[in-house]
Amino acid sequence: MNISLKNQRILVTGASRGIGRAIAKQLSDSGAEVIIHFNKNAAEAEKLKSELMNPAFVESCDLSDVKQVVGFIPKLVEKYGPISGLVNNAGIAKSASDDLPTEEWLKIWQETVQVNTTSLAILCKEFVEHAKSNQNGRIVNISSRAAFRGDTSDYIAYAASKGAIVSLTRSIARQYGKQGIKSFLIAPGFTRTDMADEILSEYGEDFALNDIALNELTKPEDIAPMVTLLCSGLADHATGASIDINAGSYVH
Ligand SMILES: NC(=O)c1ccc[n+]([C@@H]2O[C@H](COP(=O)([O-])OP(=O)(O)OC[C@H]3O[C@@H](n4cnc5c(N)ncnc54)[C@H](OP(=O)(O)O)[C@@H]3O)[C@@H](O)[C@H]2O)c1
Repeated sequence: MNISLKNQRILVTGASRGIGRAIAKQLSDSGAEVIIHFNKNAAEAEKLKSELMNPAFVESCDLSDVKQVVGFIPKLVEKYGPISGLVNNAGIAKSASDDLPTEEWLKIWQETVQVNTTSLAILCKEFVEHAKSNQNGRIVNISSRAAFRGDTSDYIAYAASKGAIVSLTRSIARQYGKQGIKSFLIAPGFTRTDMADEILSEYGEDFALNDIALNELTKPEDIAPMVTLLCSGLADHATGASIDINAGSYVH
């Protein structure tokens, strides 16, 4: 099977590091023009751009600031032209112990939902508006195993923020499929990135390894091929699907 993303322009959020970086790299290697989104790590985003074979662009937007998010997609379309794919990967996982004072706990809850859910929903809404005019577009939302399995008490906000995007993704698939828009969900388990390192340093590596069927933790490069396939159009009839990439956690 040959996968070509030639003539595609795809926005990958949170592409400066981790899973997003691996996705952007593979989409580019497969022929797409990639818009590398970042928040704080401009240097890393520029470094990735310089390593890619195909043309790429770098854009920042703080997803915790709704004012920056509203209008982001139309701005990119005006600047670069039509966007065929949106990979919503950027996310945060902040620990909030259940014995925190409620106001502190709530602050972490609100930031988590803002970045992982509300901003993602705004990007989806604006992308759907754009894609409807082209009668074509694909969205890949990066959720988490936590959306389906729940999480530890200190990551309840994270699990809930990722659970909400399951129904968002399915609603888009259901409602806009006849207008050429496809929408998929990926639910990774523990994946070796900065985000996982924080959790692993808290709980230890055995905590994660004991949870999976394979001998080693998932790497960002293990997630990217599925996203590339979904963006290619070869798997459009999987629209609305949630795809687990969690090294066999559910069968272990
Ligand atoms: N790693 C795992 O174990 C795991 C498991 C399941 C699901 N996931 C999900 O996979 C996705 C990627 O995770 P990762 O592990 O690769 O995370 P990561 O290494 O921590 O990278 C997070 C990315 O999101 C961006 N980001 C963070 N806060 C942002 C904000 N306020 N506005 C805009 N961008 C922001 C970061 O940009 P800057 O670097 O520029 O600040 C960075 O590019 C997330 O949605 C995560 O929930 C991860």
